[in-house]
Amino acid sequence: MSLAAAFTPLDLGPLQLPNRFIKAGTYEGMTLLAGAHQQATAALAAHHAGIAAGGVALTTLGYVAVASDGRTFDEEMAATVETQASLAAVAAAVHATGGKVSLQLGHCGTMTRTPVRRHKKPGGPSKTLNLYGAAVGALFTREMTATDMREIADEFVAAAQVAAAAGYDAIEIHMGHGYLLSQFLSPLANRRTDEFGGSVANRIRFPVDVARRVVEAVGDRLAVLVKANLRDGKAGGTEVPDCIALAHALEAVGAHALVMTGGFSPHTPMFLFRGQSMAASMLQYERSRWNRFLIKLGAKTPAFGDTPFEELYFRQEALQVRAAVKGMKLALLGGVRSPDNVATAMADGFDAVVLGRPLLAEPDLVRQWQAGATAGSRCINCNRCVGEFSSGAGVRCVLNGPNDRALNLRAAG
Ligand SMILES: Cc1cc2nc3c(=O)[nH]c(=O)nc-3n(C[C@H](O)[C@H](O)[C@H](O)COP(=O)(O)O)c2cc1C
Ligand code: SF4
Repeated sequence: MSLAAAFTPLDLGPLQLPNRFIKAGTYEGMTLLAGAHQQATAALAAHHAGIAAGGVALTTLGYVAVASDGRTFDEEMAATVETQASLAAVAAAVHATGGKVSLQLGHCGTMTRTPVRRHKKPGGPSKTLNLYGAAVGALFTREMTATDMREIADEFVAAAQVAAAAGYDAIEIHMGHGYLLSQFLSPLANRRTDEFGGSVANRIRFPVDVARRVVEAVGDRLAVLVKANLRDGKAGGTEVPDCIALAHALEAVGAHALVMTGGFSPHTPMFLFRGQSMAASMLQYERSRWNRFLIKLGAKTPAFGDTPFEELYFRQEALQVRAAVKGMKLALLGGVRSPDNVATAMADGFDAVVLGRPLLAEPDLVRQWQAGATAGSRCINCNRCVGEFSSGAGVRCVLNGPNDRALNLRAAG
């Protein structure tokens, strides 16, 4: 297998992609408040149109919540009927380039930094102390009930229907990085003793049920991808066998692809990224004194400090999933930086590669590789883009010029 294999079509359920390059969701911070809702800006539309024009088969809007109180950040969008037209404007901008677009749908669970909540205490799998939410009065969490789970599954279905109505080609259900569905999957957060906690069969029950309901609702119209952890990266967290069990269950309910990631943000943020700690970058824009204190404290720990970067840093774990899961389409993510890396992923039997930071640094990298360029990404893994989504001008690679702030003050469409 060679790089050429990555330029062959890929079927994801109802969606056919012209090649096997997918843009990873990298939260953009490109919204504005209109009325009571965060809406997409012209910057968000231009950002994704630019990435799609650069050659990826599918670009992904990062981290859109399924409900207002499922948001982590104040400026985050929720995919609801109130934001549908705005989301449609972004999809139309991508389609105008001939590209395809996916909406990443998530729920923060306990990882919230917004004061907008139905319940004073944010819900998660278990009752815990929650330093992450202390700045917005969410120092304690509550154990979700069966009714809560049903309501949130309904919200995932409704958000997927909004994506379909807004013209999206795919959705990606976020089950990784420590957000709600990841909290259910991980023993780091899930201490339940009922049928939703304990064994892996129990911990995957709610996330798989969400996927099943979403596939039933929109799977004939949209590709349904799931992003989930190979490992949380901390002793006592999820490990590769948990991911394999999840992959089998997702395949059984008809999900179309699994994007394999890792890391549980409150415990192991740098396991997700690798490279330079993003603490300094985040401090640049963080206003809350409590959050600044937490970031400074965290930066002193190995889990949040500088971490060696390695190309294809999830490959060894992902190969174990590939060996165990034959039917499910699997996408390799994490440190894909060069045509050689892509050829390796294809030779390993992965169905697609997913790139985040390299496409922030060079949106046209895939076109360059298609035209025969052999150089790898110029991304230096400094992770300064992570702070930039809170800058007011939206996410950017610091190796490039500043974003046009005015574009981020204008509604999309
Ligand atoms: C600025 C930035 C924002 C990110 N936001 C998201 C997000 O919204 N959702 C998500 O699943 N991952 C997010 N990630 C993680 C990426 O999707 C990806 O998993 C990670 O960057 C590793 O891939 P890479 O080595 O190709 O960059 C973000 C990464 C960066 C750099
Ligand atoms: S080089 Fe650019 S894209 Fe890469 S980590 Fe740094 S800011 Fe992000």
